[in-house]
Amino acid sequence: MTALDETAAWERLRAIRSEVDAEAAGLVRGDGGLRWRQEVSPEVRILTDRYLPLCLAGPRLAVAQLGQSLDGFIATRTGDADYVTGEEDRAHLHHLRALVDAVVVGAGTAVADDPQLTVRACTGTNPVRVVLDPHGRVPSQRRVFIDGSAPTLWVVAADSGRGGENGSVGVDGSGRHRGLGAHVDVLTLPDRAAFEPRSLLDALARRGLGRVLIEGGGVTVSRFLHQRALDRLYVTVAPVLLGDGVPGLRFAGTSVMRDALRPPMRRAHLGEDTLFEIDLRTSQPGEPLPHEHGETGQARREGEHSVDHGDGQPLGRAQAGGAEGPCGDALPGAPAADVQRQHHGEQRQHHQGQQLGQRST
Ligand SMILES: NC(=O)c1ccc[n+]([C@@H]2O[C@H](COP(=O)([O-])OP(=O)(O)OC[C@H]3O[C@@H](n4cnc5c(N)ncnc54)[C@H](OP(=O)(O)O)[C@@H]3O)[C@@H](O)[C@H]2O)c1
Repeated sequence: MTALDETAAWERLRAIRSEVDAEAAGLVRGDGGLRWRQEVSPEVRILTDRYLPLCLAGPRLAVAQLGQSLDGFIATRTGDADYVTGEEDRAHLHHLRALVDAVVVGAGTAVADDPQLTVRACTGTNPVRVVLDPHGRVPSQRRVFIDGSAPTLWVVAADSGRGGENGSVGVDGSGRHRGLGAHVDVLTLPDRAAFEPRSLLDALARRGLGRVLIEGGGVTVSRFLHQRALDRLYVTVAPVLLGDGVPGLRFAGTSVMRDALRPPMRRAHLGEDTLFEIDLRTSQPGEPLPHEHGETGQARREGEHSVDHGDGQPLGRAQAGGAEGPCGDALPGAPAADVQRQHHGEQRQHHQGQQLGQRST
C-alpha cells in the first residue's frame, strides 16, 4: 500500500466529523488513539495530531487564534499586522478556517486589515465570515462586504445609529443593510448584552454556525477568553520584538505567580515561529466571572490604542484533567487527551512537529 501523503490526508481529515467518518477515512482506534491504517509520513502524523481533535469536536466548538511578537503584540502601533508570523502559521490559520462553520473578527480587525477570511493556503470550504461591529463602524468598502467568495454576517447593535458616517455600513429602518452584496446578511442584536461571547456563540449556533474560529484581534479574543467561551486557543509567537503596538491577550491578572493561569498546552515549531495550542476546556476554580453587560469601556477606533479587553475578576488557574466545556457541557473524547498537560511545577515539553523551513514575511 502506498504511503498517504499530506494532501490526501488533509482531504480525508477535513471531511471527518465523527468516529464513523474517521474509520471510513482510514483511521483505526488503537492503544494510542486513532491512527492511520496505512503507512504515513511524520508530516501526516503532525497534521493528524493537530487537526483530528478539531474534526471530532462535535457540532459546537469555539477556538481562537492570535499571532504575536515575543513581547505580546499582534500588530505594530499603526495596526500593521502584515505579517507578524510566517507562512506556516498562515497555512495553519487557513486549516483552522477550513474546519469551522464561521470565522469571527472584531470591528478593529475588519477596519485595520480588510481581511478576506477565506481558505486559500489549503483546500477547504470558506466559512461564513462574521464581523462583530456593535457600533456599525466598519466601512462598506471592506472586502468581506464586497466580494462574494463567502457568506458574510455583519453583527450590529440595534442602537448602532445605523452607521452611515464616514462610509460606515448603513442599515435601513427595517434593519436591512444598504449597498452591500447579496452575500451579506445583517444580524441586529437588541443591545450590548447580546454581544456577550457565549450569547453570540448561541446566536451563531441557532443559524447553523456551531463551530467557530475567533480570528482576532486582541480585544475580541480576550473577551471570549475572559468569558470562558473558548475550547481551544492557538497563540503563535514569532521571534520578533515590536516594543509597542496592538496588544494580544489581556484580562484581569493575578497578583502572585502561583495564581497564574496554567492551562494544559502543547507546542510545536512552525518554521521560525512557535505555536502554543492551549486547551481551555478544563474547569477552573475560583469565583465565577460576572457577565459583562452594557458597555465595557471606551470603544477603540482606528489609530487609537486605549483598548478594553474585558475586566472583572481574574481567571482562575486551570485544573488539569477536567473535561467541562465552556457552557458546562461534557465535551466528546477523553479529557484533553490530545493535549500535553503542563502541571504547576512539572513542565513537560512535548516537542511536536519539526523545523519545517524558513519564515517568509
Ligand atoms: N496577529 C494576529 O493574529 C491578528 C489577528 C487579527 C487582528 N490583528 C490586528 O489586531 C488589530 C485589531 O485588533 P483589536 O484588538 O484592536 O480589535 P478587534 O478585536 O479586531 O476589534 C475589537 C472591536 O470589535 C468589536 N467587538 C469584538 N468583540 C465584541 C463583543 N464580544 N462585544 C461587542 N463588541 C465586540 C468592538 O467594536 P467597537 O469598538 O465598535 O465597540 C471592539 O472594540 C489590527 O491592527 C489587526 O491588524 C492581528
